[in-house]
Amino acid sequence: MSEPDERPRVLVTREVPDAGLRLLREVAYVDVWDRPTPPPRDELLRRVKGVEGLLALLTDRVDDELLDSAGPGLRVVSNLAVGYDNIDLAACAKRGIPVGNTPGVLTEATADLAFALLLAVARRLPESAALVTQDRWLTWDPLLLLGKDVSGATLGIVGFGRIGREVARRAQAFGMRILAHSRRRASDDVYREVGAEPVGFDALLEQSDFVSIHVSLSAETRHLIDTAAIAHMRPGSVLINTSRGGVVDQAALADALRSGHLFGAGLDVTDPEPMRADDPLLDLSNCLVVPHIGSATQRTRDRMAEKAARNVIAGLRGEPLPDPVPLPTV
Ligand code: DGY
Repeated sequence: MSEPDERPRVLVTREVPDAGLRLLREVAYVDVWDRPTPPPRDELLRRVKGVEGLLALLTDRVDDELLDSAGPGLRVVSNLAVGYDNIDLAACAKRGIPVGNTPGVLTEATADLAFALLLAVARRLPESAALVTQDRWLTWDPLLLLGKDVSGATLGIVGFGRIGREVARRAQAFGMRILAHSRRRASDDVYREVGAEPVGFDALLEQSDFVSIHVSLSAETRHLIDTAAIAHMRPGSVLINTSRGGVVDQAALADALRSGHLFGAGLDVTDPEPMRADDPLLDLSNCLVVPHIGSATQRTRDRMAEKAARNVIAGLRGEPLPDPVPLPTV
């Protein structure tokens, strides 16, 4: 790392793809936290002091304390994610600090992963693979590891933004009936284009064989999928979550998986993250958990890093961010 120079200082809270770092280094002195885990809070508060740009990850809490520590020179906060529930937007707004995110570039990769989880849980892939690796595969058996049909089944999509719609496109190719629910109803064309029917939340839960969650995490959506919502879900249905762990009440989910009310669940996100290996959900063979890899393809992460860097650069220049997060009025 070279010594700080006259250029603006930017803190990047983890190694990110070069595609983004290169852009930043053209205009700024870049301090990268280059360890595999997030900077401990004390370290983050120390390193952020005096920076003009902050490229943060969803594992960093950006709040009053952090912004105070950064000081009045901070001109932009850029999150390497489309979600920004780790950022206190009001705290940024009251200091006049714009916030950027990375929409659009991770839509396909995340939809692919949601569908991969759906297929894996429906066809019991983790249990099937374990049978082979544990040398418990005795013979071809007409009753072995029977799963759920995907084609012809009903998929309920909760949250019909970019990713939800992209999941619908994949479901169309599998001949599924598609129901969609979102807080703000999209235009009829949007539903028509992907063959989805708009429905209320309870109707979606009651009619779907698979429910896939694509809402952002907010006070309103925390534990949206709780005991009551799960009770509305069809017996033998499957829950997929690639949004944020906090949207699902995991204790309620574990009960429903244990009782057999739900056939299975596929989770890319958990609360908290990381999920520890002794979590009760991991004792359940019908629950597949992967470590928040929805956007984890090389191309997608390169694009996310580029977008995040461009937000920082625009903020340093005092220009409008290419991908601004709407800030509340304070
Ligand atoms: C996001 O962007 O919000 C994802 O969770 C990480 O890609």
